[in-house]
Amino acid sequence: MKRKLQDQVAIITGASSGIGAGCAKEMAKEGANVIVNYPVAQAREMAEKVVEEIVANGGRAMAYKCDVSNEEEVKEMFAGVINEFGTVDILINNAGLQKDAPFTEMTLDQWNYVLNVNLTGQFLCAREAVKEFLRRGVNGKSKSAGKIICMSSVHEVIPWAGHANYAASKGGVMLMMKTIAQEFAPRKIRINSIAPGAIATPINHDAWDTQAHLQELLKLIPQKRVGQVEDIGKAAVWLASDDADYVNGTTLFVDGGMTLYPGFEDNG
Ligand code: BGC
Repeated sequence: MKRKLQDQVAIITGASSGIGAGCAKEMAKEGANVIVNYPVAQAREMAEKVVEEIVANGGRAMAYKCDVSNEEEVKEMFAGVINEFGTVDILINNAGLQKDAPFTEMTLDQWNYVLNVNLTGQFLCAREAVKEFLRRGVNGKSKSAGKIICMSSVHEVIPWAGHANYAASKGGVMLMMKTIAQEFAPRKIRINSIAPGAIATPINHDAWDTQAHLQELLKLIPQKRVGQVEDIGKAAVWLASDDADYVNGTTLFVDGGMTLYPGFEDNG
C-alpha cells in the first residue's frame, strides 16, 4: 500500500525534541524524507538521535542546523535542502519556545525573543517554502503544490496570564496562517495550523512533573489525560496528506477538549 507521504520532502523545524521530534517520526513512518531541523550546536546530539531512530526503523532523515529567526540561515537551509533533495513538499513550522514573565516584569528581550522565534521564524520559513512550491507546482507526489502546517497552540484563542509574549505570538500565527492560506489556495498550496493543548514535552515539564501539578493540569483537560507527541504527529500526517486535500486555512485543535471551557463542566 502506498504510504501517505511517500517520497515527500518534509522540513520540520525544532525537531530535535518534543512535538517536532514526534512529527518527524510519524511523518517518516509514512514515507516522508524528513529534515530534522535544530536551532543551535548544543541541540545537535538530540537531533542526531531523532535521525538515528528514524533510520533504524527504515525511514529517511537528516539533521540540519538553522536558527529559524535568522533570515540568512533560513534561506540557506531551504537552498541546501532543495539542492540535496530536489525540492521541499512539506513544511512543519514547529520551532517555538516560552520565556514567561508577569507582564510588568517582562523585558523587551523576552518579548522579542519569543516573537522572533515563534512568529517571525514561521514567517521566514513559510516564505521560503511558498516560493519553492510556486516554482515547482504540482509534482505528482501530492494533489497539492505544497503543504505548510503551522504549530500554534490553544493559546491562539485562550488568553494566558504571565505569557503575553507567547499568546501574542500564537494569535499572530493564526492570522498569518489564514492570510497566506487565502493568498495561495488558488495556487494549490494548503496552509493550516495545529493547536496542541498540554502535550508532555520539555516546554511544559513543570506542569506535569509531580502528581500535584498533574492533578491541577488535568482540571483543564476534559479528556483527563495529558497529550503525547504522537497525538500531534498523527494529526500532522493527516493534515499534510491528500486525505486532507480540501482542508485549507483552518486550525485543528488537538487538545483533549482544553478549549471547551472545562470550568463549566459543572453548574457554571
Ligand atoms: C504551551 C504549554 C502549555 C499548553 C497548554 C502550549 O502551547 O507551550 O506550556 O502546557 O499550551 O496550556
